[in-house]
Amino acid sequence: MSLFIEDKVLAKPFLKWAGGKGQLLPEIEKRLPVEMETEQIDTYVEPFIGGGAAFFFIAQRFEQIKHFYLYDINEDLVNCYNAIKKDVESVIKELKKLERAFLKLEKEERKELFYKIRAKFNNDRDSAKLIFLNKTCFNGLYRVNRKGEYNVPCGDYKNPNICDEENLRNVSDVLQKAKITHGDFEKSDKYIDENTFVYFDPPYRPLSSTASFTSYSKEDFDESKQIRLSVFCRHIDEKGAKFLLSNSDPKNENPNDTFFDKHYKGFLIETVKASRQINCKASGRGQINELLIINY
Ligand SMILES: C[S@@+](CC[C@H](N)C(=O)[O-])C[C@H]1O[C@@H](n2cnc3c(N)ncnc32)[C@H](O)[C@@H]1O
Repeated sequence: MSLFIEDKVLAKPFLKWAGGKGQLLPEIEKRLPVEMETEQIDTYVEPFIGGGAAFFFIAQRFEQIKHFYLYDINEDLVNCYNAIKKDVESVIKELKKLERAFLKLEKEERKELFYKIRAKFNNDRDSAKLIFLNKTCFNGLYRVNRKGEYNVPCGDYKNPNICDEENLRNVSDVLQKAKITHGDFEKSDKYIDENTFVYFDPPYRPLSSTASFTSYSKEDFDESKQIRLSVFCRHIDEKGAKFLLSNSDPKNENPNDTFFDKHYKGFLIETVKASRQINCKASGRGQINELLIINY
């Protein structure tokens, strides 16, 4: 799917990423602060960048925003953003090579090549290999073992679009205005003031019976981190920043679970419908509620 603003094809996420916000974008867009249209907000911060769907949309829609600060705890992901930002032609060249080698093979040989590239990636953490693996692995997942080795098995796509050159170049253009840093979300504090809009898309707090997925990296995003995040939100609210945060709605399953009411008391908590994988079976896609928490 291509996104357009005034006939211009927009850069879109270059990786499949668990929890991608593509489908919630219209709901997020409706709720963006009106100051995004004026000079009043000149800084955008996204402390859990992941696939970056919201960032790519906002960076191309609101041209008056001058500073973009993006963070993620996943170092491979951050290195990949920075490789595309600094030298997209080298990434494309490497990725094209991998794509050509892969697509000319039959199914079994493709598998063999996938595992060879995966083993090499675990040595050199090369960004072109990360994109290749993301486009050819099972479900586009990123998962590592205790030692930090990427361990997702080979997927089964007939004709995967591995190297989308045009999009990678557009992504590189958009990234020129962004500073992308590896680290915990709290590091973004130094860039946040009353002229900042912050969008938080943390790993969702798991619903007990769903196929929720919170291990994007070696460390899980557990309950204590969800609480630390709510404290951080209150801190930036006091500084006068505007924020919007998305998370899962525990009331899908347990109407008495008041985690968000308690920790985000005083903020606006809205529920929106999302279509998600709600159990391990492919038939388990369904509509569930998600939360958007807003301080303005
Ligand atoms: C739900 S994903 C973001 C999805 C993204 N907004 C999108 O549209 O694809 C959450 C991200 O948070 C990152 N993360 C986990 N713990 C973190 C932490 N303590 N600080 C910063 N990022 C973290 C994960 O690596 C993951 O990329």
